[in-house]
Amino acid sequence: MIDLIIEKIEKMEKKHQKKETVRSSVVLKVYRANRRARESAHYDSIEVPVERWTTVLDALLYAKAYKDSSIGIRYSCRMASCGSCGMKINGIPRLACYTKVSELEGSTITVEPLTNFPHMRDLVTDFSQFFAHHRDVQPYIQNEEADIKDKAKLSEFMQTPEDLDKFLQFSYCIKCGLCYSACPTVATDTKFPGPQALSQAYRYFIDNRDAGGKERINIVDDRHGIWRCHFAGSCSSVCPKGVDPALGIQLLRGHLLGFSKNEKKVADLQERLKKD
Ligand code: SF4
Ligand code: FES
Repeated sequence: MIDLIIEKIEKMEKKHQKKETVRSSVVLKVYRANRRARESAHYDSIEVPVERWTTVLDALLYAKAYKDSSIGIRYSCRMASCGSCGMKINGIPRLACYTKVSELEGSTITVEPLTNFPHMRDLVTDFSQFFAHHRDVQPYIQNEEADIKDKAKLSEFMQTPEDLDKFLQFSYCIKCGLCYSACPTVATDTKFPGPQALSQAYRYFIDNRDAGGKERINIVDDRHGIWRCHFAGSCSSVCPKGVDPALGIQLLRGHLLGFSKNEKKVADLQERLKKD
């Protein structure tokens, strides 16, 4: 799994090394709509100066500081960690702080709110339902032994590197919602938990410290649950952290069917490597 992650990171780096177009300015075409102000949806075009390393978030913050302070944006960390600056940039769900202007083609950049989320104002969407789906899969370790009842009997939960490999990739999720926005099933069924929640269900299900697997399986094995995934794969292609939620969903499905071919393949491979 570690090799797989390294390969993915290298691929992502290559993707981000793709040709850069250095310009001195770009036009931001910003989606504007404020229901409270009864403002009908429209786009504002705002020209901003940029440098090679300017991110879309930097450009938007420049526009907000010097051109129009009323632009609604949500952000916090500015380093692809908090997951709050997700928006559609030139039609694709991306993190504004992780997307350099120089990576994008053309001199106009269109920024719009994420689809599949209720709209609030300008580029800001409501994440309540997304987080509710996340909470529904009980995204925490469940283990009676983990409760500190007797300090004298504290014990460690030992894990081997192989145990860690099984869920490590999925633990990188920052809950940015890009995968949820890209998912065609979420677009047609709001009760579907979505790729983020389902891959987190797998992350805890496969963690050998967890004992809540059966309950979690009952939650996702629903008519609006895991079987609604059509494996479009768009969730994995937009994930900025290399999580591959589509893989998590398929692996969890394998367990639901009572077997996991992938685990068998990994076990066979490990066995062969040991012999070589
Ligand atoms: S799986 Fe990826 S795209 Fe989806 S919420 Fe987590 S980090 Fe964001
Ligand atoms: S501001 Fe935190 S992820 Fe972009």
